[in-house]
Amino acid sequence: MSNTIGFLGAGYVGLVSGTCFASLGHQVLVCDINQKRIDSLEAGVMPIYEPGLAELVERGRQSGHLQFTSSLEQVVRKANIIFICVGTPMGKGGRADLQYVQGVYQDIAKHLKSHRIFVNKSTVPVGSGAWVQDILKAEGVKANLFDVVSNPEFLREGNAVYDFMNPDRVVVGSDNPKAAQAVAGLYMPLRPRILTTDLKSAELIKYASNAFLATKISFINEIANLCENLDANIEDVATGMGMDERIGKGFLNAGPGFGGSCFPKDTAALLTIAKDAKNPLKIVQAAADVNHAQRRIAIKKLKKHLPELKGKTIALLGLAFKANTDDVRESPAMDMLLDMVKEGATVRVYDPEALEHLPKKKGVEAAASVEEALQGAHAAVIATEWPQFKNIPVNTYKKLLKKPLVVDARNLVDRSAAKAAGLVVESIGRGAK
Ligand code: NAD
Ligand code: UGA
Repeated sequence: MSNTIGFLGAGYVGLVSGTCFASLGHQVLVCDINQKRIDSLEAGVMPIYEPGLAELVERGRQSGHLQFTSSLEQVVRKANIIFICVGTPMGKGGRADLQYVQGVYQDIAKHLKSHRIFVNKSTVPVGSGAWVQDILKAEGVKANLFDVVSNPEFLREGNAVYDFMNPDRVVVGSDNPKAAQAVAGLYMPLRPRILTTDLKSAELIKYASNAFLATKISFINEIANLCENLDANIEDVATGMGMDERIGKGFLNAGPGFGGSCFPKDTAALLTIAKDAKNPLKIVQAAADVNHAQRRIAIKKLKKHLPELKGKTIALLGLAFKANTDDVRESPAMDMLLDMVKEGATVRVYDPEALEHLPKKKGVEAAASVEEALQGAHAAVIATEWPQFKNIPVNTYKKLLKKPLVVDARNLVDRSAAKAAGLVVESIGRGAK
């Protein structure tokens, strides 16, 4: 039997995990339906921005462990374990849209000749393991030709290579212990903690983990808003809470609400899964509601100082949904941009990696640098926590802005320096001092 492992979908998850597995010495074939993406990878050009990825891809290609293809048939022919890494975006009513998962399994069925293990790495609703088995059977594939395993992925964008290589845990769900063992075995070089369980529990672990982290963020954002009313400081409050190991210090940064391709869609999908099971989740619903309101807070703060945005120019620092990524899916920065443009402002945007996703719209302008964005603007809004934004001297704002006003939705600006320089800073939950 071949020892090749296949990846269907060369996005953040498929490309990163395939490349990392190749670096562990496995023979890896990564496939994407998007020919341009494959051509670009073969030319050594990364289709996404992810720190450390380009070097690892290059090493994989040089060593011969990593290959790219647009032929799903080739993957099904050559690989004995095949990871499904296609997108599962938010669909109607918040449900996960499973059209790509369905499409991929229907294509697999056309080419499947001998036994393969299919691994759902995409985030899919509870019950999808059984559902994809039904798809294969409905397409005429005999049950003894495949096993299905759930192996959810927990990497974060911007940290994807590190997270994959240093997992807190690897979750493997299957009804067949031999298939689960084969998948878990691939991770052995990483010596991770492995949890083996049934398919449904593995699928739910993924949604519950994301919903828990999203809830932690909404919780701290609510406390941040309370801090403003009580004149307390959210950074000290979060630090003090995080010192308790039962709480943990991660995911306690107050800000403009969670965004990205995962938390918004996965909390929405979990709510529909729970509703269908007639077991609504009140806490997750509250986390989603708090987030909805939080994403509007920065512009509300801006309008406290500039009630009329029409005719004003605003510098927007950041477009990506968080630092170290070019991903703008569900980015709070994008909401801020569109809200301001809708009110008639001209918004000059700078982001180190995400500017190619800038909407082509009247009132939206790209800036080539922080300074270009700030020059002559009526105010600045910091939307993404890029490290270079943290290092902007307060005097730069003071010198370049028409009005000395910064809405700091990521709590990056040193407020005592700002005060000394006469710069007005609106931040999130830092109180008046
Ligand atoms: P993505 O949109 O970046 O990539 C998906 C890729 O699949 C695209 O390149 C698309 O062209 C390709 N594709 C679609 N249909 C195909 C087919 N039939 N054959 C081959 N390729 C096909 O998505 P992503 O961010 O990598 O997410 C993939 C899944 O992993 C989602 O379910 C997501 O929820 C989950 N996930 C994502 C992250 C993350 O940080 N992005 C982390 C953990 C889990
Ligand atoms: C998240 C999870 O962290 C990953 O474990 C998971 O694999 C992934 O979703 C997924 O399922 O796809 P990601 O969306 O890449 O990863 O990024 P995070 O670092 O989790 O940030 C998500 C959002 O929360 C961002 O908008 C970020 O700015 C925000 N956030 C994060 C805060 O507002 N405060 C924090 O303290 C942390």
